[in-house]
Amino acid sequence: MGGRIAVGVSGSGSNLRALAARIDRGALDAEIVLVFADRPCAALDWATEAGIDTALIEDLGARSLDTRALADWNLAETLKALGVDAVVLAGFMRLPGPILLDAFAGRVLNVHPSLLPAFPGAHAVRDALAAGAAVTGVTVHLVDEEVDHGPIVLQEAVEVRDDDTPESLAPRVHAVEHRLLPAAVRALLEGRMLVEGRTVQIIEGESTT
Ligand code: GRF
Repeated sequence: MGGRIAVGVSGSGSNLRALAARIDRGALDAEIVLVFADRPCAALDWATEAGIDTALIEDLGARSLDTRALADWNLAETLKALGVDAVVLAGFMRLPGPILLDAFAGRVLNVHPSLLPAFPGAHAVRDALAAGAAVTGVTVHLVDEEVDHGPIVLQEAVEVRDDDTPESLAPRVHAVEHRLLPAAVRALLEGRMLVEGRTVQIIEGESTT
């Protein structure tokens, strides 16, 4: 039986669609049991149209700490009740709360459009260009209580060309994200991800693609 995953989104949903496409073609033995979002977004609309259960939980971004903690607890309980094996943040623009992180310790993945620890934050592609970096890339990491910080699972570099703009660079970065995130999810679900402190080793599995 495939792994049960919940996917967190806030944006356009290209990583969510890439995950779903992998699952559909049998390259990732998983089922997306819930797509949750902190705001209305195209990713959530797509999930609804695809017939996937969705949850819009705007309180995850509430100003009140109490309200946010309750939303964190509710989401963690929902995911536990659904028997979720892994939580995949695919363009989810918030740090999950401590209750969820505790309940799913070592089972929450995030994809980020830079080679962390370079260029954390919400504008990584733009920031890499502004810094004049010759190379940027993609990181998939386990999520801890700091933004864009947890143990690095997979990274791949993307060359920055002299004439790149955010519009020309972002699609090349996203194309790598769409490959790396499903590969990391698969390794996690198959128990091939060994974590020791900040070091993550992936034991090679059978190739799919
Ligand atoms: C991705 O670049 C992801 O790394 C970042 O937000 C973007 C989301 O894109 N955290 P999408 O919603 O998956 O298209």
